[in-house]
Amino acid sequence: MRVLVIGSGGREHALCRALRLDPAVSEVHCAPGNAGIAEVATLHPVVPTDGAAVSALAVRLGAGLVVVGPEAPLVAGVADAVRAEGVPCFGPSKEPAAIEGSKAFAKDVMTAAGVPTARAFTCVTEEEAAAALDAFGPPYVVKDDGLAAGKGVVVTGDRDEALEHARACERVVIEEFLDGPEVSLFALCDGETAVPLQPAQDFKRAYDGDRGPNTGGMGAYTPLTWAPEDLTEQVMREIVLPTVAELAKRGMPYTGVLYAGLALTKDGPRVIEFNARFGDPETQVVLDRLETPLAGLLLACATGELAAHEPLRWRGGAAVTVVVAAENYPADPVKGDTIEGLPASGEGHVEGGVEGAYVLHAGTALDGDRLVSNGGRVLNVVGTGADLAEARARAYDALGRITLRGSHHRSDIALDASRR
Ligand code: AMP
Ligand code: GLY
Repeated sequence: MRVLVIGSGGREHALCRALRLDPAVSEVHCAPGNAGIAEVATLHPVVPTDGAAVSALAVRLGAGLVVVGPEAPLVAGVADAVRAEGVPCFGPSKEPAAIEGSKAFAKDVMTAAGVPTARAFTCVTEEEAAAALDAFGPPYVVKDDGLAAGKGVVVTGDRDEALEHARACERVVIEEFLDGPEVSLFALCDGETAVPLQPAQDFKRAYDGDRGPNTGGMGAYTPLTWAPEDLTEQVMREIVLPTVAELAKRGMPYTGVLYAGLALTKDGPRVIEFNARFGDPETQVVLDRLETPLAGLLLACATGELAAHEPLRWRGGAAVTVVVAAENYPADPVKGDTIEGLPASGEGHVEGGVEGAYVLHAGTALDGDRLVSNGGRVLNVVGTGADLAEARARAYDALGRITLRGSHHRSDIALDASRR
């Protein structure tokens, strides 16, 4: 089977890598991809949000499956365009993808489905916003209602800062602060059935100790050795299955991955947000641990045959990924700097090699034969091992062999969990 992956980040590199390891896959293609993905897939210069171009490419390649990575093409209806050509597509249609594209829609679905989440007000005027802030009190949570690549959210104890963010958005959702550790759970869905992947934890703030601005994610690890054993089961029962059923009831069956971003509060798991796609960088560690071949699993989702799929198999052990971010990420990342320490066509291995570690590319490009940064999150260094401590040590060992002028990374990814 030929598979076409849409997107160009570390998540897409992880998807392409896992697909290439699947014996049922004869060719992996990616549009538009990046310099690292080029080592595991054939790249095509197609704009991900252009449904006509993506579906034409899928037909031309004779793809048996298209996997749409990022939210922008999903919200733009690219999965619909691909399915309209009769090509199986992993990724929700435009309508249910609004579960990520519109916070107000997501809240409406959760209310109807009885899914536990933060109480919230949607506000348009400054007066409404001020009243909502005062109704909840600090810490204040203010979210842009549109797509903002994880950067439209301000959590602050400063009322003026909260109000200023509200003023800068056309429509905002102001909500109750949820207190507790955050967990990302991905459920694979075929419109009716849903199957959970292993939960992971992401580090959203830019700097060590969860300080600094929100980012797309600075690192991740799995498994969650500290989480309650029945967490996945509880989240499926209380959150994922009711949401999938509610969407089906509304005539917008959900096909693809439903990403539940959760806070584990003292009253139980609460939804912080839903995303319509795999999380980045959590996917990089979750797919590393998944032993079940990926193509057949995603195809079963795309064709409505998930219920008949064999139970998932996991590798055991642990995986940790650390993001190497460009200078000035997330505010205004600098691009075009040379990356050193990654031999050309080294299949993701750092110079000298570190056992159990490899590098996925997030924002890279080739300038002649020079590998350069080309985005805010540049590389994902993945370490694996028997436990989190070993996986983490290997990730940081490999990271230490890479140089990128001005770059920064967190040094505390999976640190607390590895000590428990
Ligand atoms: P979102 O884009 O909705 O995932 O929000 C980004 C980050 O802001 C989340 O990962 C949380 O760390 C934080 N956040 C969002 N909503 C809340 C909330 N209601 N309570 C506490 N933290 C939140
Ligand atoms: N890592 C967070 C996200 O993908 O939205």
